[in-house]
Amino acid sequence: MSTEEAIQKELEELREKINYYNDLYYQQSISEISDYEFDMLLEKLIALEKKYPQFRTPDSPTQRVGGTITKVFETVEHRYPMLSLANSYSKEDLVDFDKRVAKLLGSETYDYICELKFDGVAISLTYENGQLSQAVTRGDGMRGDNITANARTIRTIPLRLKKNMEFPALFEVRGEVLMAKKEFQRINLEREDIGETPLANPRNATSGTLKMQDSTVVSQRRLNCFLYGMLGENLPIQSHQEALEKLNQIGFNISPTYRKCKDITEVLDYINEWETKRETLPVETDGIVIKVNSYGQQDRLGATAKSPRWAISYKYKAESAQTLLKDVIFQVGRTGSVTPVALLKPVQLAGTTVKRASLHNANEIKRLNIRIGDQVYVEKGGEIIPKVTGVNLDLRKEDSVPFEFITNCPECGTLLERKPGEANHYCPNQNNCPPQIKGRIEHFIQRRAMNIDSLGEKTIEQLFKNQLVKTPADLYKLNFDQVFQLEGFKQQSTNKLLKGISDSKKMPFENVLFAIGIRYVGRTVAEKLARQFKNIDNLAKASFLELTAVPEIGERIAWSVNNFFESEDNKHYIEELKKAGLNFEIEEKEEIRKSNKLEGSTFLVSGVFQSYSRDGIKEAITENGGKVLSSISSKLNFLIAGDKMGPAKKVKAEKLGVKIISEEQFTEMINR
Ligand code: IVH
Repeated sequence: MSTEEAIQKELEELREKINYYNDLYYQQSISEISDYEFDMLLEKLIALEKKYPQFRTPDSPTQRVGGTITKVFETVEHRYPMLSLANSYSKEDLVDFDKRVAKLLGSETYDYICELKFDGVAISLTYENGQLSQAVTRGDGMRGDNITANARTIRTIPLRLKKNMEFPALFEVRGEVLMAKKEFQRINLEREDIGETPLANPRNATSGTLKMQDSTVVSQRRLNCFLYGMLGENLPIQSHQEALEKLNQIGFNISPTYRKCKDITEVLDYINEWETKRETLPVETDGIVIKVNSYGQQDRLGATAKSPRWAISYKYKAESAQTLLKDVIFQVGRTGSVTPVALLKPVQLAGTTVKRASLHNANEIKRLNIRIGDQVYVEKGGEIIPKVTGVNLDLRKEDSVPFEFITNCPECGTLLERKPGEANHYCPNQNNCPPQIKGRIEHFIQRRAMNIDSLGEKTIEQLFKNQLVKTPADLYKLNFDQVFQLEGFKQQSTNKLLKGISDSKKMPFENVLFAIGIRYVGRTVAEKLARQFKNIDNLAKASFLELTAVPEIGERIAWSVNNFFESEDNKHYIEELKKAGLNFEIEEKEEIRKSNKLEGSTFLVSGVFQSYSRDGIKEAITENGGKVLSSISSKLNFLIAGDKMGPAKKVKAEKLGVKIISEEQFTEMINR
């Protein structure tokens, strides 16, 4: 074999390996190797492909990490138009639909396939010779945007199909790109960390993400994709059910929630069953889709210009209510951003009483065209905070006046600013606007920052009012008498508060870095910066280029970090925190190796243990040379069973021949 061939072989083997672990993880939720090991494999492949760019392939798993910038998305024509579905909102509508189908099909019998209607963004994927060649959005149904580079980063879209499987040389797959509710919350939490307004709902977040120019950012947002349709010439399948099975076989992510129904009664059962069950799914659904199963019958039923006659959607009712808009108030956040909030006459919605709803910003208020005194509609979607979705104009009072957005900060009176292109208004009076000062302290003490849980919002207010604390650094200067004299404080509560503050000095550098509140530096970014620069002085010295060279640190963050350390106020602030004794350096953990007794063995821990905590037992495994796995697979040697281990784990372990041991047996192994 020539060197060239050897390199190509190594590349191919690495790709196969990564694809294998990737499929296992995303399709079966099994991880045979740790995230770290997976990242190492991927990094090795990235390095090799960089060295030998001539052997790069478009279906390489390295494509998943992004790296492509699309300035303008090219418009492409769909080979088959992307129709929409006729909607129905009642069971009667469905019975009517069934009657139409029966009439058009005459005496034929027919089945339906019921599926969940995923609430995301429709996508069309083209596969040529088993490789993903193009991904296009729906657009107007005839033409969409070419978003291939971004789609390649979605782990549940295969870049190449499974080997040794039969599939057509050219075909299209249709599906829905979604963001799991958890991922949506994670992103919003990060946005909150850095003082950005939260994204409205998972669907908007998905469509915004798919249209991002930098595919690296798309890759970090962990989108998902469910596929539900196959199109092409002379496909080797006769029904929708066969299509789903085929797609699943060749490597696509098919939701297992579909069901074949032999008549409309069974369809209605499916609808009833999923009405509440859908809430437990990790992704959002807004209804179900009913499709005639047979392709032959689908053809005979045909389509109108807009939608097929062989399918219909049933939409679950979005929980909505109408109520009086009493007032609009404005909240000023830690970064000075001003958010309008609707004060409502209390109304019942999805089992809770709603009194407030978010109005996002001035543009949203304009779009809704709301006036105080209006009857407005409120809805609870994927969002945790309900939102105002519209106005009942029929009930608008004649004497109502158009709503004007405020011009000055409601807290300190400073003239608000609005940067060109930004939706939000800001109060620029950073150092003297009370909610900004209090917000910075609240940010500083939160659990994921300095974790001072003996300090609450009310106490912060008291400390601020009594002019004892103006910056987080002032917390470390508080003495017993100053706290004791505050209303409601006794000896014990005073000591507790001071101890909480003093204990926080032990928090690691990454927490401190997040706590100090550099704009755009959320918890995850703080960790990355801490790991890279090791201490605050290195970070303060880091140039723009050094910062942007760190993976996942973009220009906006780099600029903000540089800016932060240029300010004299901030320099002083850091000096004060240093004097107080906070950690401004990363603590390098040394790996302690006590023995090699478990060398070569893999373990999974499950349940509760008598003499170890869960982390403790894992530590004991690695300290003695063993490896901890996160799921049961054929690679697992020992399952350490504690109390309350689920029965399913036991069955699975036994099936795979994994040895189940007790805590005592494990202790014996390491003390042998
Ligand atoms: S089938 C001919 N199945 O709903 C229409 N669509 O209005 C083929 N959707 O844009 C669509 N889940 O993005 C189908 N299980 C499902 C779906 C689904 C969500 C979306 C799709 C389409 C819209 C239809």
